[in-house]
Amino acid sequence: MKITVVKNYDEMSREAAKYVAETLTSKPDCVLGLATGDTPIGMYAELVKMYNEGKLDFSKARSVNLDEYYPITPDNDQSYRYFMNYHLFDKVNINKANTYVPDGTAKDVEAHCKAYEANIDALGGVDVQVLGIGRNGHIGFNEPDAELVRGTHLTALTKSTIEANSRFFASEADVPKHALTMGIESVFKARKILLLVSGANKAEAVRAMLKGNISTNCPASFLGLHNDVVLICDEAAYSLV
Ligand code: PGA
Repeated sequence: MKITVVKNYDEMSREAAKYVAETLTSKPDCVLGLATGDTPIGMYAELVKMYNEGKLDFSKARSVNLDEYYPITPDNDQSYRYFMNYHLFDKVNINKANTYVPDGTAKDVEAHCKAYEANIDALGGVDVQVLGIGRNGHIGFNEPDAELVRGTHLTALTKSTIEANSRFFASEADVPKHALTMGIESVFKARKILLLVSGANKAEAVRAMLKGNISTNCPASFLGLHNDVVLICDEAAYSLV
């Protein structure tokens, strides 16, 4: 894992945007693996800025997102489809038909997950997968558990994740209890992984990931086994390493 420690969130966002921009510039039809949450918002803002300055062209790019709540409709302002449209897709020239987010309204969940996984392969695989890390060490919605699922699947959210995400909802009771998420193997199939972490509330997760045993109790701990992971982490998040 290549580790870059930066001062703060803004610097992390700029460095991350530079990394994604390099991938897009060198391969205009690349497949971007995208993530939601607070962490990548600044990176998306930087990418939009570069696009507005005429430095980036998303017209040939494709994207797949890591996860989506279930059930949730795409027009719900807490859905990850809404988030992606708002922070990136509506602000750059990506063809929305080439952007894939798991469908929070899918009726046949199993068939949808299979098709989602098959689509990642049909696109040629992910070139760079952007990832955040949960306070509990989750990646995507692969929560700490006795076993980790390989492919895209429906999962129950842990109490810690529901609590962490309740800040976006009217109350904790409104947070969906399930999500669709790419699995560990789906994430690991990406040619490059860009892991972004900011803030003292992630410091223990970063310590566990880098210094703890490799364990399904910390799904992020497996990332050290991938051969091309770049971690951009701010000082606060790196403070316990
Ligand atoms: P956050 O979530 O960016 O909102 O902190 C990251 C994650 O849970 O993976």
